[in-house]
Amino acid sequence: MVDIAVDPLEGTNLCATGAPNAIVVLAASEKGGLLHAPDLYMEKIVVGPACKGAVDLDAPVADNLRAVAKRLDRDVEDLVVIVLDRPRHEKLIEEIRAAGARIRLIGDGDLSAGISAAVVGTGVHMVMGTGGAPEGVLTAAALRCLNGQILARLVVSKPEHHERLARMGVKDPKRIYATEDLAPGKKIIFACSGVTDGNLLKGVRFFGEGVRTSSMILTLDERQVRFIESVHLEKRPDIKVRFN
Ligand code: FBP
Repeated sequence: MVDIAVDPLEGTNLCATGAPNAIVVLAASEKGGLLHAPDLYMEKIVVGPACKGAVDLDAPVADNLRAVAKRLDRDVEDLVVIVLDRPRHEKLIEEIRAAGARIRLIGDGDLSAGISAAVVGTGVHMVMGTGGAPEGVLTAAALRCLNGQILARLVVSKPEHHERLARMGVKDPKRIYATEDLAPGKKIIFACSGVTDGNLLKGVRFFGEGVRTSSMILTLDERQVRFIESVHLEKRPDIKVRFN
């Protein structure tokens, strides 16, 4: 028995416009290993391994930025924070700018942004703001394997949200979920492939005789990060495989 969480296209608009970081995602774990999150928004903070335990969802933005900068041994001015470009983030964006950190506003895709925050060398240090709860669970699955951290809280703004949560057995709508709450599994596998080119993965490349894809497979118990390049050939008798 396994739990499976999928996002068959994370960044539908990114894909439609050819913008970076559209990915396809699947995470799996033993039964109960991935939280069945309601389709609501979630406030999130995501950081990488070096900053685990340094952030607090209820702390002022400037305090979180200072704490992350300290852990990364750099100035707040040298932090890059990814935020979804949405009107609901106006105040958050103002506060990040006032603290002096750099912002990268993205049109969509806080899941791939969260993965980048946990990988050294991507130039992304943190993700802040409100995005989809299912994306939060998938981010947590990846972060368990990458040793990063997500803190999250459901955004419950309408009476029907309360009813939906009660039906799903969520007792405390204000609960702060840690990485292990969203993805508690002992065995987790997280797989994603690039659809459009992105920070970590190349997008799907079409050539005359097939398609080439780049994927990343993370496994928690085996402590493996695998990057897989695949060539999917068309079914033709005269097919040729190219080296590059
Ligand atoms: P889709 O791929 O379903 O369009 O979701 C993309 C996304 O940007 C997520 O990465 C993010 O969590 C969520 O949508 C934000 O929701 P909204 O677009 O409603 O602000």
